[in-house]
Amino acid sequence: MKEYERIKLNYNSLEPVIDDKTLNLHYNIHYRKYTDELNKLLKENNYNYEHTPEYLAKHIDIIPIKERNEILYNLGGYLNHTLYFYNLTNKKTEIPIPLLDEINKYFGSFSEFKQEFISMAKELKGSGYTFLVLDKNNKLRIINMSNQDTPYYYGFIPIMTIDVWEHSYYLKYTYNRQEYLNNIFNIIDFTKVYQIYLNSIK
Ligand SMILES: [Fe+2]
Repeated sequence: MKEYERIKLNYNSLEPVIDDKTLNLHYNIHYRKYTDELNKLLKENNYNYEHTPEYLAKHIDIIPIKERNEILYNLGGYLNHTLYFYNLTNKKTEIPIPLLDEINKYFGSFSEFKQEFISMAKELKGSGYTFLVLDKNNKLRIINMSNQDTPYYYGFIPIMTIDVWEHSYYLKYTYNRQEYLNNIFNIIDFTKVYQIYLNSIK
């Protein structure tokens, strides 16, 4: 089977929310680095790519203990960036009603959901991501992960994420993480989030 690859972007630019330089560095340097390093480590362990990366993340016992830290770090980096780049858009999209109903059920309203998500992302210490996830009972929750940890390692299915590592926003927003979060929330493609949601509910 083929090695894991970066997803192709559906957009050339996310200006003015994400400046082109940041998007280019983030996609071509950071995301590539995690992807290449993951493939290198897996090949060194004679991995034959029989599973999806998501499956691998849910079954970390497949990975030899000796190599686990390095592989999990890069696998998380690969999966988290894949979701981040996937759920962004430069087109105007509407949130599908069934997903909106679920969000209303767990968070009260879309604006309360947005507020809670942004406040979690603001609280995150150091580097990491904020995620909308499904828990084992198909309930929606907002969680933070440090560094390149991914929700799969903790029994959650990530369906949306915002990268809050400084490399995601610092060139344009410098220390103003709040402004980055407010702006990027407007370019989340909730039709894609809903697709992942449908594929993930049990
Ligand atoms: Fe990143």
